[in-house]
Amino acid sequence: MSTEPSADDPVEQAVSVLSAAGLVAFPTETVYGLGADADMPSAVRAIFAAKGRPVDHPLILHVADANAVTAWASNIPPQAVKLMAQFWPGPLTLVLPRSSRASNEVTGGQNTVGLRCPSHPWAQRLLRAYGAARGDAAVALAAPSANSYGRISPSQADHVRADLGVKPEGKVDFLLDGGPCDFGIESTIVDFPDGQVRILRPGSIRAEQLAECLGQAVSWAATPGPAGHEPRVSGRLFAHYAPRKPLRLVTAEALRGMVDTCEHPVQVLAIPEVLDTLATAPGVLLTPASPESGPYARDLYRHLHEFDRGDARLMLVVLPGSGPEWLAVTDRLLKASAGSAPLKTQLHSQQ
Ligand code: TXA
Ligand code: MG
Repeated sequence: MSTEPSADDPVEQAVSVLSAAGLVAFPTETVYGLGADADMPSAVRAIFAAKGRPVDHPLILHVADANAVTAWASNIPPQAVKLMAQFWPGPLTLVLPRSSRASNEVTGGQNTVGLRCPSHPWAQRLLRAYGAARGDAAVALAAPSANSYGRISPSQADHVRADLGVKPEGKVDFLLDGGPCDFGIESTIVDFPDGQVRILRPGSIRAEQLAECLGQAVSWAATPGPAGHEPRVSGRLFAHYAPRKPLRLVTAEALRGMVDTCEHPVQVLAIPEVLDTLATAPGVLLTPASPESGPYARDLYRHLHEFDRGDARLMLVVLPGSGPEWLAVTDRLLKASAGSAPLKTQLHSQQ
């Protein structure tokens, strides 16, 4: 197999950009990441600048496989080893005690580091090609989601172009376009306090899958309220993942009345069965959603980005389900709605 760089191979172009301490937006199976070489503090600092993200919010390190983990983490708990064997490559991030190689820039000065091995073929190719170029298979790409701080994560390349943008006009040095992401919402994040296993952020890999793999109960980190400030996981802050315009979660029963009284145009995201109960009206834009949690999650951020770009002033969302498979999606929608103004300001009321 040839290792000669090819000028028109996008992965090789991305490798060149990373080698020169540049920023590469790349696809993962969850969302697009904004990546830099984790061994280059100046490149890592550029990630924070591009996103407008506070520097004490740690970044996830992306590695090609589990063998790289010992370079970045130490005292790896046995549960972490089991989870890596079962779920990597895939949408699971493990927060582990850091090694000296994990810099303060990456960890936000904490004594832990978040590690993830993405399964997306382009992410895998990029990590392996970059490892080959640097002569170190343990190289890591520090990469948060490739969106401005607090905004909706990108689940396709267009979202990166529209938000951060690509140079010379934008902030990203190179965008590796790998099409839409399969899972569409960010990875499940787990840490291991005192031999326990705890979920910091829900994702497509669910608590019961982790518990089944480990034969051990899995707990949840308390979600901070709107007044709480929890810098360890910015995705746990309220009003995160938010569209610029108001979004409301409503029940199917309340929907009809809301649509009649709220400001138009209004966008309604619900399964077809629920949309069918609404009379079509000029100011009511209907977006059908999947009744299955997987496809729903995959399409969710695309719907939110389209709403942000479109004419609607308000989005009303009716969740199709409430079982454990809907937890991650519900978490994202609650956060997307938390920053919205009080509902009465959107009503046609005379008060
Ligand atoms: O699916 C994903 O995880 C995507 C793709 C690109 O891999 N990445 C992602 O990164 O969502 P980001 O930075 O947007 O969210 C990662 C979350 C942040 O909220 C951060 O605070 C948390 O992970 N995190 C990273 N390292 C941590 C650590 N050492 N302890 C606690 N939380 C950590
Ligand atoms: Mg993010």
